Amino acid sequence: VPKGLDGVIVATTQISKIDGTAGRLIYRGYDITQLAGVVPFESVVHLLWTGRIPSEKELIDFKSEIADRRSISPSLISFLKTVPRDANPLSVLRTAVSILGLTSSSSKGEDAAASSSPIDTGTSLVAQFPTIVASYDRIRRGEDPLEPRKDLGQAENYLYMLTGRVPETERARAVDAYFVLLADHGLNASTFSARVAISTLTDVYSAIVAAIGTLKGPLHGGAPSLVWDMLSEIGEARNVRPWINKRLESGERIMGFGHRIYRTEDPRSKILKSLAKQIADPKVYELAVETEGEARRILQEQHPKRALDTNVEFYSSLVLNASGIPKDAFTATFACSRVAGWMAHIIEQLSDNRIIRPQSEYVGPENLSIEPNA
Ligand SMILES: CC(C)(COP(=O)(O)OP(=O)(O)OC[C@H]1O[C@@H](n2cnc3c(N)ncnc32)[C@H](O)[C@@H]1OP(=O)(O)O)[C@@H](O)C(=O)NCCC(=O)NCCS
Repeated sequence: VPKGLDGVIVATTQISKIDGTAGRLIYRGYDITQLAGVVPFESVVHLLWTGRIPSEKELIDFKSEIADRRSISPSLISFLKTVPRDANPLSVLRTAVSILGLTSSSSKGEDAAASSSPIDTGTSLVAQFPTIVASYDRIRRGEDPLEPRKDLGQAENYLYMLTGRVPETERARAVDAYFVLLADHGLNASTFSARVAISTLTDVYSAIVAAIGTLKGPLHGGAPSLVWDMLSEIGEARNVRPWINKRLESGERIMGFGHRIYRTEDPRSKILKSLAKQIADPKVYELAVETEGEARRILQEQHPKRALDTNVEFYSSLVLNASGIPKDAFTATFACSRVAGWMAHIIEQLSDNRIIRPQSEYVGPENLSIEPNA
C-alpha cells in the first residue's frame, strides 16, 4: 500500500476534478478560472451541491436563505465568551459546531442533528461558520459581536462582522474569489474524514467536526499562518536565500510549497497571486514573489524529479492579511469556504452509501504466548 494512500483511488465523485499535470481544477465541469471572481461564492455552493449554476432567481433565493440563517443563538454567543482568548479560532469553530449539533433542532440531542436533511443543515452551516469565527474574534478583542447583515454577500458580511466596516469592493471581491477557489478539492484529507464519518450514518455535525479537526494540521489547512510567519521572519529580500537554506538544512519544510497531486503550479495559487498583487502591501507582495522564486529554484535543485511549486496556501496568506483577517484565523476562514465542499461530499456519499471500512495489513508478530510466572 503506498504510504499516505498516495495515488490510490478510493471513491468516484462528480464534484471536483484535479488535473495535477496540467494544473487544472474543475468543479462540476467548470474550470475554476471560469468561476473565481466571476460568480459569487453562493453560486458555487449551489453548483457543488446540485450540479447546476443557479438561475438568477434561484441565486437570489439561495443568497437570502443563507443570509436569513447567519445569526447564532445567544447561548452560543455565551459559550464563545467563556473560551480563553488565546484559543485557536479553528478549535473554537470545531467546538461551536459540536454545540450546534446538540441544539440545532426542536427535537432532542444528537438524534435531532441526524434528523434534518443534509442540504438544510449544510445551508445553516455555510451561513453560520463566518458568524462564529467573526464573533469569537471580536469577543477575544474585548468587543461585542455584530449582528450579521442580510443585505451583504457571504464574503462581504464576513469582513463586515470581523472589522465593523463594510469592506471596499476590491477586498470583498478578493475574499469572495478566495472562498470560491478553496470550496472543494477532490478527496483531500479533511473531505476524506467527512466522507468516512458520514458513511457510518452518523449526523452531519459530527462529520463536519471530524473534517475541521483534520483541516487543522499544518500539512493541510494550517499552513497559511506559517507562510505569514515565514515572510515576517525573512523580512527583506537579501535574507530570502539564507533563510530557506537554513530551514532546509535543519530538515524542515518550506510552508506553502509542494502538493500531493499537483506537479506544476497550483492553479488556485496563480489566481491568488494576482489578487494579492491587487490588494496586498506592495512590499510584502514583492518579498513573497522573491521568496517564491528562490524557494522554487532551491527545491528544484534538491528534488529534480519532483516538482515542488507554490500551493494554495502561499498567496492565500497575503490575500487574507490584506483583507484584515487575523493570522491565526486564516485556517478558520479556509473552513468557512471548504464547508461547502465537505457538505457536497456528504450529500454525494449519502446518495449511494456503503460504510468506508478499508483493511490494514498486519505486520506485527503472531503466536506469542504469555509465559507463566516462574
Ligand atoms: C503538501 C505536502 C504535505 C504534500 O506531501 P506529500 O505528497 O506526502 O509529499 P512528500 O512528503 O512525499 O514529499 C516528497 C519530497 O519532497 C519534499 N518536500 C515536499 N514538500 C516540501 C516542502 N514544502 N519543503 C521542502 N521539501 C518538501 C519532501 O521532504 C520529500 O523529500 P524526500 O523524497 O527527499 O524525502 C508537502 O508538500 C508539505 O509538507 N508542504 C508544506 C506544507 C504545506 O504547504 N501545506 C499546505 C498544503 S495545501
